[in-house]
Amino acid sequence: MASEKQQSILVTGGAGFIGTHTVLQLLNEGFKVSIIDNLDNSVEEAVDRVRDLAGRDGSRNLIFHVGDLRNKDDLEKVFSQTRFDAVIHFAGLKAVGESVAKPLRYYDNNLIGTLNLIEFMLNYGCKKLVFSSSATVYGQPEKIPCVEDFELKAMNPYGRTKLFLEEIARDVQKADPEWRIILLRYFNPVGAHISGQIGEDPKGIPNNLMPYIQQVAVGRLPELNIFGHDYPTKDGSAIRDYIHVMDLADGHIAALRKIFTADDIGCTAYNLGTGCGTSVFEMVAAFEKASGKKIPIKLCPRRPGDATAVYASTEKAEKELGWKARYGVEEMCRDQWNWASKNPWGYHSQP
Ligand code: NAD
Ligand code: WQD
Repeated sequence: MASEKQQSILVTGGAGFIGTHTVLQLLNEGFKVSIIDNLDNSVEEAVDRVRDLAGRDGSRNLIFHVGDLRNKDDLEKVFSQTRFDAVIHFAGLKAVGESVAKPLRYYDNNLIGTLNLIEFMLNYGCKKLVFSSSATVYGQPEKIPCVEDFELKAMNPYGRTKLFLEEIARDVQKADPEWRIILLRYFNPVGAHISGQIGEDPKGIPNNLMPYIQQVAVGRLPELNIFGHDYPTKDGSAIRDYIHVMDLADGHIAALRKIFTADDIGCTAYNLGTGCGTSVFEMVAAFEKASGKKIPIKLCPRRPGDATAVYASTEKAEKELGWKARYGVEEMCRDQWNWASKNPWGYHSQP
């Protein structure tokens, strides 16, 4: 049997934010990696930078396919070229607001793309899957920390795609117990690789807090809107569980090791968070400290649909995956600023 070091992993959406960081760690760990990405929300330059960071040996183990999971010809090309031991499935659309305005775009891309992927995995005999789920499946949790066996809810079409796909994964595994599926529920991924060469580069005005702060810091946006300062929290702003993207990447390696070594996985979910809650004001202060930049703020009403406080219970991942986040808010802001200051326009050299 091939040693774990030589296993081949298909990474869908591997040119994106979490995908690039995870692919780099996979290459560093000696895996062979194929990416399929349609570059809808990413650029090929990101993959080139991963190659550079992985060095000669690592980059030899990386194949990049531009392709769309909704296109079966694209999937056929990828699956007929390599025999995969497992798939990490990041590819999907993720903007909550856009999903409310364009629900069909989300259902089409996220659901059809995943159904096609599962069909090809079955046809080619690969039944090991790590799927990107989200803390969004907890809706507005009544209790915190969020524990994996909480009742699941969705607040918007994006969240519903994650909820439906979790259910589909559970049904697929129930019907065929040979499947081993891990659903990873990420909390709020932020930060960047320590080199500052890869990071998050959203198209248009950022939806999420940290990319927004980053763009204010480099002068692309004038000020940060703080959505809600009257929450029943220590400083009135909402609380989230921010997690360093390198910790997330390592969480995927831990999930793969579990999938390769334990035969009783079934289809199971793990939270990937730090277990610590940080308020919006605290995040702004931490970023100001890391960057030495003043972030002008504007106090605004609450954003509809936002929860007061969300953070993870980390016990299950610690116990069963042997994984625990290593980085705190200080490192998240340090690395995000390093990426931002070296790449004020992301992967582009100018506006
Ligand atoms: P991202 O947009 O940076 O990466 C997703 C990648 O998938 C992009 O490169 C995009 O071009 C690609 N893609 C989209 N649809 C595709 C398709 N049909 N075929 C091929 N490629 C396609 O997003 P990310 O932040 O890296 O998120 C990765 C995954 O994690 C997503 O499924 C997202 O829903 C989930 N997630 C993200 C967050 C977050 O805040 N970043 C939180 C929880 C869950
Ligand atoms: C964090 C906090 C905002 C922007 C979202 C998705 C979730 C998951 C992670 C994918 C909130 C406040 C934000 C701004 C602000 N993604 N904020 N000004 O909403 O916790 O989660 O990303 O699965 O599904 O919903 O993250 O970064 O948007 O917001 O004050 O300009 O920052 O109100 O309290 P959120 P976020």
